[in-house]
Amino acid sequence: MTDAVDTSSMAAWWQSAYGGPEVVKRERTPVPEPGAGEVLLRVRATALHAGDVHVMRGEPVLVRAFFGLRRPRIATRGMDVAGTVVGLGPGVAGLAVGDEVVGEIPGGGLAEYVIAPAARVVARPESIDAVTAAAVPVSAGTAWQALDLAGDRAGSGRRVLVIGASGGVGTYTVQLAALRGAEVWAICGARNERLVADLGAIRTFDYARVDAGASPPELPAASFDAVIDIVGAAPLRALRRLVAPGGCVVMVSGEGGRILGPIGRMLRAGLLSLGRGPRLQPLAATAKPAITRQLLALVGEGRLHPVIERTYPLSDAGAALAHVDARHTVGKVVVTVP
Ligand SMILES: NC(=O)c1ccc[n+]([C@@H]2O[C@H](COP(=O)([O-])OP(=O)(O)OC[C@H]3O[C@@H](n4cnc5c(N)ncnc54)[C@H](OP(=O)(O)O)[C@@H]3O)[C@@H](O)[C@H]2O)c1
Repeated sequence: MTDAVDTSSMAAWWQSAYGGPEVVKRERTPVPEPGAGEVLLRVRATALHAGDVHVMRGEPVLVRAFFGLRRPRIATRGMDVAGTVVGLGPGVAGLAVGDEVVGEIPGGGLAEYVIAPAARVVARPESIDAVTAAAVPVSAGTAWQALDLAGDRAGSGRRVLVIGASGGVGTYTVQLAALRGAEVWAICGARNERLVADLGAIRTFDYARVDAGASPPELPAASFDAVIDIVGAAPLRALRRLVAPGGCVVMVSGEGGRILGPIGRMLRAGLLSLGRGPRLQPLAATAKPAITRQLLALVGEGRLHPVIERTYPLSDAGAALAHVDARHTVGKVVVTVP
């Protein structure tokens, strides 16, 4: 390792069991060593999102099949990281100690140092600070991939409905759909309607008043080319009703049982889509560094604005997890590492 940093231990938020934010404790742990194809990052900022909370709680239980049966295999939450390369594992090319990078990694970001697969990180443009950059990969990447799934139906001159427009994924979906030339309608809480309009929605609705699942007159039948559902609570038939012929529903989120989560809803979507009418398309977003690079370019050009509700210092990362766990985040929550 070519690391000039003097430290054998670091502060990290560690969980040894699934549970609420109270199971995540601040510990001192060994600084990890990068393996083949990995880099060691000095973390500058880590953004949190709903997925961190699913892994923290091990809910739905299905999550545990992928992340660890009795406890999360990676004990530290935090997948969206901006940091400085301080060590290189064998076989890493194209990165050097001192590089400022950002990317979506498997976890571990709520710590002073983290291991990142080299292939997952991209250069952080000088014009974008670490906090802003960390807020980009997972949520903006999910929004981008949701719109890609909708394709032309979320393109120029098309009408798109974003359900759940004020959270991490929602604030990016509204902006990116507007950038693609779509006419964006959005459902969010009343307190966030102004923000969502400023991000590019031409019409906004308070979800307490306009329920997409209840055929409200404000959302006429067959009036959207694409519905991007980031909440997952409205019945699928009600969502299809909103879509014009040839249109689609992209299912970013799906409420479901404690055990299988959205699986039942996805199976129902598959069955419904076999027949005539609008397609229901579940999204499984993955880490795509090439998309992160394009998103950072948009941020650098001032065309995409990460919404950051709040930052917390690493010493208070437990409170940051609790904030995201409460499910009322506006845009992103970012933890900074001094
Ligand atoms: N499919 C995939 O690959 C993928 C990838 C990433 C995330 N996701 C999923 O996408 C969802 C959103 O993730 P996120 O990180 O963006 O979540 P988030 O930031 O925690 O979302 C919170 C926001 O949702 C709003 N909200 C809550 N209930 C609502 C409702 N009934 N109608 C409209 N808005 C509502 C809240 O507004 P109020 O405070 O006003 O209630 C809050 O602003 C999660 O379910 C996550 O698991 C899926």
